[in-house]
Amino acid sequence: MSGSGPTLFARAPEDASLADPLPAAPLDLLQRWLDEARERGAQRNPTAMTVATRDRDGALSARVVLCRGYDAEQGFLVFYTNRQSRKGEHLAHHAHAAAVLHWDALGRQVRIEGPIRRSPDAESDAYFASRPRAAQIAAWASDQSQPIASRAALLERLHAAERRFGAEGAPVPRPPHWGGYRLHIERIELWVGADGRAHDRALWTRALAPAGEGFAGGSWSVTRLQP
Ligand SMILES: Cc1cc2nc3c(=O)[nH]c(=O)nc-3n(C[C@H](O)[C@H](O)[C@H](O)COP(=O)(O)O)c2cc1C
Repeated sequence: MSGSGPTLFARAPEDASLADPLPAAPLDLLQRWLDEARERGAQRNPTAMTVATRDRDGALSARVVLCRGYDAEQGFLVFYTNRQSRKGEHLAHHAHAAAVLHWDALGRQVRIEGPIRRSPDAESDAYFASRPRAAQIAAWASDQSQPIASRAALLERLHAAERRFGAEGAPVPRPPHWGGYRLHIERIELWVGADGRAHDRALWTRALAPAGEGFAGGSWSVTRLQP
């Protein structure tokens, strides 16, 4: 099977495969991939990630959110949302999620699973304060995931919130039901697309032990997976 003759499965250029041997820990490599997705303008929302949650009966639901932070020391991703939304209710019952980032132009996929904890209030406050005023006001106006009678009714809620806070002026406070979640990485798989479906996959897992507001990570196990 091996040899120097012609092959359908080209030797992947360095960029199209993971290092061999694999790095013992994945968090710096994830940082590099996130940076490169931004720098290379891979797509309009390079930090868009699909997050799957489950309800109290075990039914699954997935949606896209924006990854708004990554802590490569502790190993968690951050996203912000309405905690009374469908996903918020799921996470209140089952504080665990799976997330996928996909950069098609780069031929890369990241899959992450792990427990979820709320971000500290001060961090949610700081992020909310950095948002455009319209987004801040919209966070007050929208009971995310609840039904509404019409588009006009939604716009009226937005206008009412704008009248309440003003188009400019005093800072808009963070709604008490809005804030961040940290997805702590317990399992992470990196996937690199290659010609002829000779894709490269690597899986890192570790145990997480509750520590303070988050988790302390044990040492990583790493293995290559068949594509
Ligand atoms: C590109 C993109 C980015 C999004 N970012 C967020 C986000 O950061 N936070 C959020 O709550 N919803 C975001 N949404 C909307 C969600 O996909 C979803 O509609 C909403 O959060 C309600 O989901 P739920 O009913 O499952 O809670 C985004 C949607 C798209 C397409």
